[in-house]
Amino acid sequence: MSARRKLIAGNWKMNGLRADGTALAKGLAAKLAAGPAPACDLLVCPPFTLIVPVVEAVAGSALAVGGQDCHAKTSGAHTGDTSPAMLADLGCRYAIVGHSERRTDHAEIDAQVKAKAEAALAAGLIAIVCIGETLAQRDAGQTLEVNRSQLVGSLPDGATPENTVVAYEPVWAIGTGRVATPAQAQEVHAAIRAELVKKLGAAAAAGMRILYGGSMKPDNARELLALPDVDGGLIGGASLKVADFWAIAESC
Ligand code: PGA
Repeated sequence: MSARRKLIAGNWKMNGLRADGTALAKGLAAKLAAGPAPACDLLVCPPFTLIVPVVEAVAGSALAVGGQDCHAKTSGAHTGDTSPAMLADLGCRYAIVGHSERRTDHAEIDAQVKAKAEAALAAGLIAIVCIGETLAQRDAGQTLEVNRSQLVGSLPDGATPENTVVAYEPVWAIGTGRVATPAQAQEVHAAIRAELVKKLGAAAAAGMRILYGGSMKPDNARELLALPDVDGGLIGGASLKVADFWAIAESC
């Protein structure tokens, strides 16, 4: 079997005030301290406003912290944006780029996602590059083509298994409670890996982690995480509760 270590990543989205975020982070750090640690890497991506208290709350634990987005430039006249260097400076190790909510809410296209991912890599962060089809695209039979084209358009130059993670998130499964079936997830993950072979070569493709995201919960995580090409999860709703996030991590 592959040597890919699974990654369980929480995407808190625009949720939580300081007290909530600190309690959630401390709760997870306490679980890790109590041991035994789950057999996976653990990451939380709070809103930008909570990165500092969360980094402080998890200091000394194996829980990594990441941003939910980043700008493609290091600094400059970009009101409201946050650069990857700023994230790294606060102690972040990862940045999510190209989440479907960014693509929808901010009209982000593949070229921008790629530029952001490359900026993240340049700042020493690990980029989590999100792709996924809408329900209309799935119903039209375009699932594999849409994911291939988003992957090719969004993957940073210089991507390696160490600096890049791909997240497959079918848009119709995000926040809907409608999770992909194991067969649907495995089909797309295998197609993504096949495309990675073409782009990066067999060894890099075999080492790169591909996460599933979209209504992953404690009761469906085990089945999804057991699939041959599913190397972890990007978890929204269920990452906001210590018990649920921990249960998913323990499914690895
Ligand atoms: P969800 O979100 O787990 O709430 O469906 C996943 C995501 O958007 O990353």
